[in-house]
Amino acid sequence: MKTVTLNNGITMPQLGFGVWQVDESEAGPAVEKALEVGYRSIDTAAIYKNERGVGQALKNTHIPREELFITTKVWNGDQGFDETLRAFDASLEKLGLDYLDLYLIHWPTPEYDTYIETYKALEKLYHDGRVRAIGVCNFDSVHVERILEECEVTPALNQVECHPYLAQHELKEFCKTSDIYVEAWSPLMQGGDVLEHHVIQSLARKHSKTPAQVILRWHLQRDTIAIPKSVTPARIEENFNVFDFELTTQDMQKIDSIDRNERQGPHPSEMNAR
Ligand SMILES: NC(=O)c1ccc[n+]([C@@H]2O[C@H](COP(=O)([O-])OP(=O)(O)OC[C@H]3O[C@@H](n4cnc5c(N)ncnc54)[C@H](OP(=O)(O)O)[C@@H]3O)[C@@H](O)[C@H]2O)c1
Repeated sequence: MKTVTLNNGITMPQLGFGVWQVDESEAGPAVEKALEVGYRSIDTAAIYKNERGVGQALKNTHIPREELFITTKVWNGDQGFDETLRAFDASLEKLGLDYLDLYLIHWPTPEYDTYIETYKALEKLYHDGRVRAIGVCNFDSVHVERILEECEVTPALNQVECHPYLAQHELKEFCKTSDIYVEAWSPLMQGGDVLEHHVIQSLARKHSKTPAQVILRWHLQRDTIAIPKSVTPARIEENFNVFDFELTTQDMQKIDSIDRNERQGPHPSEMNAR
């Protein structure tokens, strides 16, 4: 498994397993399958309502805790300093863990303007040794800039929607100069059209790989962390089987060229649901 080193020196698998839209009852078996094929990083969130299912798989595994990398997120309605500390305890209890590897703010929800105090709670958890790294999701550069100005700990990463139709070139460049990794959510565009795009299809034929594997390889080679989701055992395995081939510079450029700035999810500045 290829790992990346975050800005506080800890390592994280570059390919992880996401569990959004996975029922509590399905989450355990899906995570067990993922661990069996080699994933060590699992991405969940309080709002996914499956932390207990994920926790069950973590309890059943014989993989040592220190080899796992577990991420969850504070939901928008739990933002605020004290609220976040309580949300963290609740997530940890559901996951059956005594520390987390990564805790993230799920959305900036700019209308409520509470992400600074929320981030300060993450900093407390980090300083108290309850989480090994902290970061954000869906933060535009303007939101990240405020964190950098008003808080102490630079976010380890920014988890944002990213796939070949939303390559996030600018945000990636901004994050790189601030020493913040970009982690791609919906790295396969939720299994959407991009898998059918002729560039992706032809590269899949060229490398004798599937379209999903080509896209995941693109993420890895552009130094992005990716967390594909699947509840289909064969796809869970397929998505992990991306370390035995390499895209050329020209292949990478071809994929870069199909960017359309097209989102599946809401724009970070407009998402204020709680
Ligand atoms: N921070 C945030 O705001 C945020 C938002 C969204 C997602 N996320 C995280 O990012 C993770 C991944 O994003 P996502 O779940 O939205 O989308 P995704 O990983 O891009 O795509 C998942 C969809 O693609 C299908 N799929 C998976 N592998 C495939 C393959 N090899 N070939 C064809 N189809 C395939 C899956 O179907 P099956 O499951 O039926 O196989 C599922 O419908 C989430 O699970 C979550 O952990 C975070």
